[in-house]
Amino acid sequence: MLAIALPSGRLMEECVKLLENSGISFPKEILESRRLSGIIDNKKFLICKPKDVPIYVEYGTADIGMVGKDILLEENTQVYELYDLGIGRCRIVVAIPNSLEPEEIFFRGDIIRVATKYPRIARDFFNRRGISIEILNLSGSIELAPVTGIADVIVDIVSTGRTLKENNLRVWEEIAYSSARLIANRASLHIKADEIEDLLNKLKRG
Ligand code: PRP
Repeated sequence: MLAIALPSGRLMEECVKLLENSGISFPKEILESRRLSGIIDNKKFLICKPKDVPIYVEYGTADIGMVGKDILLEENTQVYELYDLGIGRCRIVVAIPNSLEPEEIFFRGDIIRVATKYPRIARDFFNRRGISIEILNLSGSIELAPVTGIADVIVDIVSTGRTLKENNLRVWEEIAYSSARLIANRASLHIKADEIEDLLNKLKRG
């Protein structure tokens, strides 16, 4: 049986729609309950926090997973990236307050305080630029940090741009493009090659 890890939260709905459009059944009871797993048509579905999807796949609890590229870039897990699912499209950016020019922030010689839930991506980006930073590792509502003065800038994902706009922030630099990817456990790719190929073909057609 193929085990598939899906991310809870805002990407879940799009993943389920994608599965249905591809003719792959999804255990509906999961959507209406607090159940975190279900079996249908010889497939087991596991619902995980987005950040944890690659871990479940790396350890082989799930053979396949759907997860944002942002998370794959941040979490250094050993999984095989199979396919760009084309959903959950967003950009990972550095955003700054509307009230300030970039020079006022980056060239004043102080250490820049960066609020983010992507510490690895943020550190890599600023290291490459030779800009000294201190990371403020927050769990969410990142845009609040510069508004309240606790951070100078943020590294976060932007989808519609609404959250930035409504908190008087703007994009300074784009770091990477992100969308949901189909990932696989390396051993499962061999052991369950036929089942994985069948799923991949259905998703490609759907
Ligand atoms: C994400 C992200 C931004 C927002 C961007 O947060 O961290 O805050 O979405 O979307 P937009 O460009 O369409 O406004 P999410 O809603 O996942 O919640 P969080 O702040 O709790 O992380």
